Amino acid sequence: MKEKTIAVAFKGILRGQVTRPPPVWLMRQAGRYLPEYQKIRKRVGSFWTMCMSPDLAQEITLQPIERFDFDAAIIFSDILVVPYALGQKVRFEDGIGPILDVLGDVFALIQDRNIWAEKLAPVYQALTATRTSLSSKKILIGFAGAPWTLAAYMIEGRGTPDQKKAKLHAYQEPKKFLDFLEILSDAVATHLIRQIDAGADVVQIFDSWAGGLNERNFSDWVIAPTKKIVISVRAHKPDAYIIGFPRAATQTGYERYIAETGVSAVGIDTATPLSWAAKALGGQVAIQGNLDPLALVAGGDTLSCAIDDVLQASEGVPFIFNLGHGVLPETPVDHVAQLVAQVRRAVK
Ligand code: CP3
Repeated sequence: MKEKTIAVAFKGILRGQVTRPPPVWLMRQAGRYLPEYQKIRKRVGSFWTMCMSPDLAQEITLQPIERFDFDAAIIFSDILVVPYALGQKVRFEDGIGPILDVLGDVFALIQDRNIWAEKLAPVYQALTATRTSLSSKKILIGFAGAPWTLAAYMIEGRGTPDQKKAKLHAYQEPKKFLDFLEILSDAVATHLIRQIDAGADVVQIFDSWAGGLNERNFSDWVIAPTKKIVISVRAHKPDAYIIGFPRAATQTGYERYIAETGVSAVGIDTATPLSWAAKALGGQVAIQGNLDPLALVAGGDTLSCAIDDVLQASEGVPFIFNLGHGVLPETPVDHVAQLVAQVRRAVK
């Protein structure tokens, strides 16, 4: 792929074109595995301050582009800025992760778009500044958490392996829960539209907890809110490029998700066979994924074989090289450089 055309090719892929070598970026490519990130983290002390300072967020967003020459930058922020904009207190504890205050009446949440926009202004400023300093050859990605994943964090107060409390609440108060998802869908759509206005070329919707839901819940909690978001974003931005990532959706879940939501591309998690996704979904949307983040930690031949497997499975379909989940903090930086070099050597 010619350098100059990378940003154009990336958008072409999201419209269904096939390109080799595929563009490459990694979820969580900015963050703790990078010594230059750690340096800022130590100096500033607070992850949240880093997210909410446009200059710092811009600097951190660009770090992995400068070091590895990825084809896309993803804005340094977090999915939990939306609960914060809605009025729920969020803090991050070292070694634990995010902790959210107990959620009261969901109708007491802030529903004024201008207030959201004001609270999230630093994210939009960071996007505008980053788009200005980023090479026109590169894509800038904005993002948000999907309503179900956000609802789970907001109800549980933290990340849990099974989202038991959130599911039980949804079963016990179905009407109230769907109203809650509505409020979240509106906030997420607004946040994505504002990110596109501020300079994001592409947006990704992270549904990290989309796995483990039965058929009806997957329809009501994952597909329906995502579809609503895609419709409202496209009502404002008809050509918006939207990547959906319903992590650990089943194969039929993935099929229904792409048939019904209208996303331009779908992120495939590590456990879903990429060769299946390419065949079953690659004719309808672009595919993104799905190297095992642990293979990237392991490096060597393990990594090399895993990269070849992904390249082989994705031949002939519109494809963006990525991991099946985020970069792990213990990932050696040399392995990331090895990955980019090997992906760039792919010829067919
Ligand atoms: O991809 C990128 O480089 C952009 C930045 C980004 C962050 N979080 C920065 C971050 C993105 C896209 C996210 C998304 C996110 N945040 C998700 C969805 C993706 C996924 O991993 O499933 C979720 C569930 C969150 C919520 C969150 N934020 C958790 C659970 C944690 C703590 C645990 C962890 O994995 O780090 C965070 C903190 C966080 N978000 C850090 C970073 C760089 C670590 C902050 C630090 O301690 O320095």
